[in-house]
Amino acid sequence: MQQKIIILDFGSQTTQLIGRRVRELDTFCEILPYNKFPADDPSVIGVILSGSPYSVHDPNAFRVDLSQFMGKYPVLGICYGAQYIAHTGGGRVECADSREYGRAHLAMVDTQNPLFRGFDKDSQVWMSHGDTITALPEGCHAIASTGDVLNAAYASDRYPLWAVQFHPEVYHTLQGKQLLKNFVVDICGSQQQWSPASFVDTTVRELKEQLGNDRVILGLSGGVDSSVCGVLLNRAIGDRLTCIFVDHGMLRKNEFQKVMEAYQGLGLNVIGVDASDKFFADLAGVTDPEQKRKIIGRDFVEVFNAEAHKITDARWLAQGTIYPDRIESLSITGMTIKSHHNVGGLPKEMHLQLCEPLQWLFKDEVRRVGRELGMPDRLIKRHPFPGPGLAVRILGDITRERVRILQEADDIYIENMLAYVCDDGERLYDKVWQAGAILLSTVRSVGVMGDERTYEHPVALRAVTSTDAMTADWAHLPYDFLAKVSNEIINKVRGVNRVCYDISSKPPATIEWE
Ligand code: XMP
Repeated sequence: MQQKIIILDFGSQTTQLIGRRVRELDTFCEILPYNKFPADDPSVIGVILSGSPYSVHDPNAFRVDLSQFMGKYPVLGICYGAQYIAHTGGGRVECADSREYGRAHLAMVDTQNPLFRGFDKDSQVWMSHGDTITALPEGCHAIASTGDVLNAAYASDRYPLWAVQFHPEVYHTLQGKQLLKNFVVDICGSQQQWSPASFVDTTVRELKEQLGNDRVILGLSGGVDSSVCGVLLNRAIGDRLTCIFVDHGMLRKNEFQKVMEAYQGLGLNVIGVDASDKFFADLAGVTDPEQKRKIIGRDFVEVFNAEAHKITDARWLAQGTIYPDRIESLSITGMTIKSHHNVGGLPKEMHLQLCEPLQWLFKDEVRRVGRELGMPDRLIKRHPFPGPGLAVRILGDITRERVRILQEADDIYIENMLAYVCDDGERLYDKVWQAGAILLSTVRSVGVMGDERTYEHPVALRAVTSTDAMTADWAHLPYDFLAKVSNEIINKVRGVNRVCYDISSKPPATIEWE
């Protein structure tokens, strides 16, 4: 049986990070809303309570009945989790004199306690709270303090309970990984058997059981998630999987052909549909970004539906939904919800059941699973690309000519990025989360080429670093790389006479321009 750690989410920004850290310990975990602890799940081996934007004294604070798991499983409370356990157990939580925020060093730490095994005496930790625990519940004792925080960590004499007011999941808590390992492996007894190989074995077996002899339809986009989903399903049910790949005409240069070939090389049963005429016709004259997105979404569903209806015996619709998509949709505070890009308007009337085999994976795990399945790097390491494609990277209305110009500029940019190897031997492309060119077709500027005056469009280059696309920083690309790309684009792409580099972070900008 797959062992699992349950992480109860009280709305902290870093809950996902706790999940990632646990997975990095090759241990399966589920992040659930704070009030959704699963009763009677024999695979649970431990429980972690996350931080929260609320104070325990806030009337709106999230409350949970601790008796569901306290004493039954090892429990680790983090920040709000620690304060909530102290508060409900008869301890005292008060507003700190000054907000305890940022780096701190442990002044006392009980390295005999299993939670702190291997810790340095003055280990650096990261604090982020307005309240502090001034009195511990009966039966609890402090196991670490900092100069300012007496009860930086505590443990119970009665229950398998540990709690820390700092954040072990963030990078700035230098021995945070050690702490989580102590909890997950030593205290909870994880056998660390969660790996891409075990995931593939288990999932293929489960898919075979779930799908039997049914036929499944999958929409492929060329992106990592849907591609890995396709190969995994293909392993389980072979030709009973039919994939549909729609070309809306706004993919990258030659992408449709290249991706089709890659899919066929992987043995996938894939139908390619060139629907570009329809998309260009429906987008003619449309300049508003949201309008463009709506039209593309609607047309996509129409085209996909028409194709899918031809497969009359299909019972299932598979999707490459991954864990962050689901967590965002489940988010309990409502602050981080964003529309679920990948679903893109599910054809509801098709009456198909949903199959989402990657729904528990983080992006990097999807890549590891893809590698395990023997997929080529050019599919696995691909940057994310928006469903509406270059349409959201062309300002103003969209024409075939503008798409062609942008495809040329984008191709030069990306090919150069793939070819550029950094000092540490890694490709520049692999250091970047996502890169692409944007055609500023509503803008013109004057230039000179030879003896000729030009009056043409600029291209903006965008490249960002990120871990989940929720926040992103602009990538500090090397100047020599930018110089080469700029020269090549201006010299080779007719219609472009200027190249700019976008140095905006998200937030407040977004990754895509539209
Ligand atoms: P933004 O522009 O919101 O983008 O910062 C965040 C991430 O989502 C991608 N993106 C999309 N992906 N369909 C998709 O499948 C879409 O409509 C869509 N819009 C944006 C974007 O490329 C980035 O990775």
